[in-house]
Amino acid sequence: MRPFTTLSVVAWLGGFHVLPVNAIQTISAVGSKFFYEDGTQYFLKGIAYQLTPQDPLIDTAQCKRDISRMAELGTNAIRVYHVDPKANHDGCMEALAAAGIYLFVDLDTFDTSIRQVNPQWTHSQFDRYKAVLDEFQKYNNTAGVFVGNEVINTREGSVAAPYVLAAAHDIKSYRNEKNYRNIPVGYSAADIAELRPMLQNYLACRPDSADRLDFFSLNAYEWCGPSSYETSGYKKLQTDASNYPIPIFFSETGCNVARPRTFEDQAAIFGPEMSNTWSGSMVYEWIQEANDYGLINYGPLPGVPAAKMLVQDGFTRQGEPIPVAPDFHNLKAQWATLRPTGVALSDYIKSTSTVKPASCPASTPGGWVVDPNRPLPTLVQKYHRAASDATAISGPGSGSHPGYHSARVTSVAPPNYHTYSAVNGVSVSSSGMKDFDRLAGASLFLCMSIGALALWL
Ligand SMILES: *[C@@H]1O[C@H](CO)[C@@H](O)[C@H](O)[C@H]1NC(C)=O
Repeated sequence: MRPFTTLSVVAWLGGFHVLPVNAIQTISAVGSKFFYEDGTQYFLKGIAYQLTPQDPLIDTAQCKRDISRMAELGTNAIRVYHVDPKANHDGCMEALAAAGIYLFVDLDTFDTSIRQVNPQWTHSQFDRYKAVLDEFQKYNNTAGVFVGNEVINTREGSVAAPYVLAAAHDIKSYRNEKNYRNIPVGYSAADIAELRPMLQNYLACRPDSADRLDFFSLNAYEWCGPSSYETSGYKKLQTDASNYPIPIFFSETGCNVARPRTFEDQAAIFGPEMSNTWSGSMVYEWIQEANDYGLINYGPLPGVPAAKMLVQDGFTRQGEPIPVAPDFHNLKAQWATLRPTGVALSDYIKSTSTVKPASCPASTPGGWVVDPNRPLPTLVQKYHRAASDATAISGPGSGSHPGYHSARVTSVAPPNYHTYSAVNGVSVSSSGMKDFDRLAGASLFLCMSIGALALWL
């Protein structure tokens, strides 16, 4: 804080930002943590929210109904896997912001996601990613974007990692060219024991920050029912992440094998063993559907005939959210007791110069087969499996149009889960007030310091 005293005084004299009534502070990645503009650390208490496959953020009335329940739950983030970049998202995004809820959104569609087998990174994929970023960068409560979800979901899939990183590189450089704010760009990984921690480290190991993710996240369903930090596998996850240079969090969690779900893993994630390393979690998922991970069911809306309600796959996908008992209440009770304060940015920045990239994992035949020294693929380059060289990349040429229609890869964890899934949440009361208080303290000093520090010094 000290070096900025002069600036701070200037900021004070110059006045605060004039913020709209529903203003929400943006989130920045600094070193291995997320921060609000006022310099307090941000931990995600998130929910996967995808009521319908196309886009759950276009029905403002439904968003508002869900948001009030999300607020009750203590949610401050949602994850949405699929959106329509041409639709209008103002209503849902503003309602989320009013409740202090941030969005992490996937940039790909079902047919533009990077594939594990014969991966490539093409102009049509990039165009789609850009369109989603163009749309959602407008909203201050967009906290992060994913360049992929579980692209790699088998231990043989590591050859796709350079394509994931190439996508991150290109979308970050597009973000910077367009002078968008530094919205963190990350990847949501399947939990594959054989590739841990190589994949995680590969995506954050290059010397130039342009060639690293801004955050990494993991879909992990290791903690089922009564378990513990030691026996669940979380201790290993923590060991692998303890010196990780960028923010890391659970982009999906919430094993449903043991019923009811008690969400005791949340206490570990937000507790002393892990909260110095992890930035929280996203619980899978909001809507109850065939995979049986839902926190709410939908009941009728007054005045709307049942025949008019949206039903897909036998599940009603709009209406009055009704908590699934006791799971909803169990998660609410967990989160209510878990309030890590983390570290203040003003203290943390003193140590960011010691944050070093991860070490690049060496290629190991039969497991992690990526040569870390190879340049990243460029647009149009395509992977070709070669007998002698598992990391071969071909130049521009035939086959730049994928024309595939594979569904989103499924996780190695829960079977049959989330072809469609999503997160959302907002509240109007307590969390909204808290954000307002934070805003009142935000000064130019902090905006300048975060601007300068975001994505490292
Ligand atoms: C978004 O945040 C910026 C920077 O804090 C602020 O200037 C702008 O007014 C905010 N926009 C909205 C719609 O709140």
